[in-house]
Amino acid sequence: MELSDVINQRRSVRKFKETLVEENKIKEILNSARLAPSAKNRQPWRFYYCSVREKDKIAEMMRNWHDNNANNHTSLLGTSVAIKQAPVLILVFRKIETQWERSDILSIGGAIENMLLTATNLGLGSLWIADTWYIKEEISNFLNINLELYSAVCIGYADEIPKEISRKSLTDIMLN
Ligand SMILES: Cc1cc2nc3c(=O)[nH]c(=O)nc-3n(C[C@H](O)[C@H](O)[C@H](O)COP(=O)(O)O)c2cc1C
Repeated sequence: MELSDVINQRRSVRKFKETLVEENKIKEILNSARLAPSAKNRQPWRFYYCSVREKDKIAEMMRNWHDNNANNHTSLLGTSVAIKQAPVLILVFRKIETQWERSDILSIGGAIENMLLTATNLGLGSLWIADTWYIKEEISNFLNINLELYSAVCIGYADEIPKEISRKSLTDIMLN
């Protein structure tokens, strides 16, 4: 696909088919993250590919958190449903340290965007997830990973055609 088509066609997918994702496609997605630019070339990202059991447990932990804090963060429930349905969940961690945090987060964002675009190019749906933030310590403890969880990405074959979410016009976002 042309790059412009990939960028235009990428959507957040929240409904997935049961079809498993080919291992070579997952590798290609992770490799595209590896190739992203990073501040000072720190490559601050670390990825964890969840087993189905781990993925489903994380979805359950998010649902429980939602049920106990329902008034505040209702998007957690929808996100947990998407995680449960998606065949693949990849967690994105960063070393626990305050130095370079701002630039590391920007770098991690770039790596995740590479993953989403590569998934689209491979005919896969994906969802960038920040809702894992609410239970990030719980997830790190559960997996015994001594790193800070910044995001997650679920991937699979889309079982929906997500509607296009509106964007501000160029005039709206340009300052000059
Ligand atoms: C940093 C970031 C975090 C996000 N976290 C979530 C999330 O936790 N749950 C969710 O359903 N969507 C999440 N999204 C998806 C956004 O809601 C979505 O990108 C936005 O509404 C635009 O829609 P589109 O991706 O289909 O163009 C996240 C997107 C970004 C960039």
